Amino acid sequence: MLALESLRETILSNAPTKDVVGVFLALNLCAYLVVYVSKRWTDLFGKTARASSPDVEKPASGVRGKVTRPPGEWTPSDFKRPTAAPYPDWNVHTTKPIPYRPFRYGPKYFITMGLRSMKWDEWIELDNHYLKYHADKARRIEERGSKCCHTDPEAMDGAIELLEELCAYLPERYPTMFQKTATGITNTITNETFNITQRPLPEDPMATAARLVQDDLALMIERPDGEYYLLGGAILLAGFWRLTDKFGMRLSEIHTSGSVPGYESKLEKGMMNFFRRLKPEDPVIRNNYFIQVDDNLAWSYSIGSEDAETVSWNTAEKNRAVECHYFRSERQSLRRLPKSGAVVFTIRTYFEPVTEIVKEPFVPGRLADAVRSWGDDVSRYKGKEKYQEVLLEFLDRKHSEQVEGGLKVEKEDEMRSYPF
Ligand SMILES: *[C@@H]1O[C@H](CO)[C@@H](O)[C@H](O)[C@H]1NC(C)=O
Ligand SMILES: *[C@@H]1O[C@H](CO)[C@@H](O)[C@H](O)[C@H]1NC(C)=O
Repeated sequence: MLALESLRETILSNAPTKDVVGVFLALNLCAYLVVYVSKRWTDLFGKTARASSPDVEKPASGVRGKVTRPPGEWTPSDFKRPTAAPYPDWNVHTTKPIPYRPFRYGPKYFITMGLRSMKWDEWIELDNHYLKYHADKARRIEERGSKCCHTDPEAMDGAIELLEELCAYLPERYPTMFQKTATGITNTITNETFNITQRPLPEDPMATAARLVQDDLALMIERPDGEYYLLGGAILLAGFWRLTDKFGMRLSEIHTSGSVPGYESKLEKGMMNFFRRLKPEDPVIRNNYFIQVDDNLAWSYSIGSEDAETVSWNTAEKNRAVECHYFRSERQSLRRLPKSGAVVFTIRTYFEPVTEIVKEPFVPGRLADAVRSWGDDVSRYKGKEKYQEVLLEFLDRKHSEQVEGGLKVEKEDEMRSYPF
């Protein structure tokens, strides 16, 4: 893991700290890459990442396209997603959000950043915050339009295939809320009906997709140059980044706008291989978390106005009261759509006051350990300097209370396992 960790550190430490937007998307994708590449390298070349050097360091220049691609890459596929089982006892008013607590102490941190393979049933998670998320999204689609939701013509097939997939999956998984129709889907709770066969579509298909789920959505599309581009998105509740800052960019541009030594040859190639080889039948998920020092799910105004030219943790107020600290956890999925080949990235955010999650056994102690274990680069992009004093004092106090109340710290691994 060491080589991979340092690769990741390189990415992180070279990401421009002011570019909060870039860093967030970058981290999401980089973490995928690092772990996936690790797995791939192990699969293909044996135990260590080193073994793959010849492949990774082969110059990315030269003829691109079908001929030079590695074996195992995606080609249009007949793959059909297995039918989803209904979510047990799901109810839009009573099903609670899944309490992801994806943080660990110290060395385990990197290992658990990893990808897990996704169970098909669990592609999209919905809960009793649905109506709030739905209303927030509708308001933001209305207010911000294509700044938040946009589909490039090149991504249109992918966006429509995404809609078709949602229209098939959601009624299987959440039959008490969705009904499949001949031309699309009906949400029986919000009373919306979407006809996805209509042309032209009545609105951007990514906006329609966003209205169906609680997630933010992004589409990465392969162009003839063999690179993946962010060409479709519904980024409505992302908190720290804006679609307009990254739309149309190549993966490597999303990852860093500065010049990173070694990036071009190593990371870029690995990243491309990851995307090229992602198969429709092998979706993956991962979890991630942030601290936010204001209570706005959609946009963390602490880092600046959503309409500011640049946004940055530098502008955030330091040491706000702990009541203003929110725990923002993300559950991300990545899959390739079989017909269009578009890669769909879903980002579901769970948002809770820190003062609430500390009531759970082990959580304050473990979160404090995790925050303390962030390296300088991670600390910078997560804005630690702005809240660490208040947050850590509070977490330590809550942890002490739990220990005084009889918490058996050594039992933690038995009681809570990642990502909970
Ligand atoms: C949806 O329609 C039903 C039946 O007409 C109605 O009772 C319900 O209040 C409507 N829901 C919303 C969110 O408008
Ligand atoms: C959906 O759109 C198609 C194409 O415009 C149209 O033929 C059809 O009548 C519409 N169906 C419904 C239920 O609105």
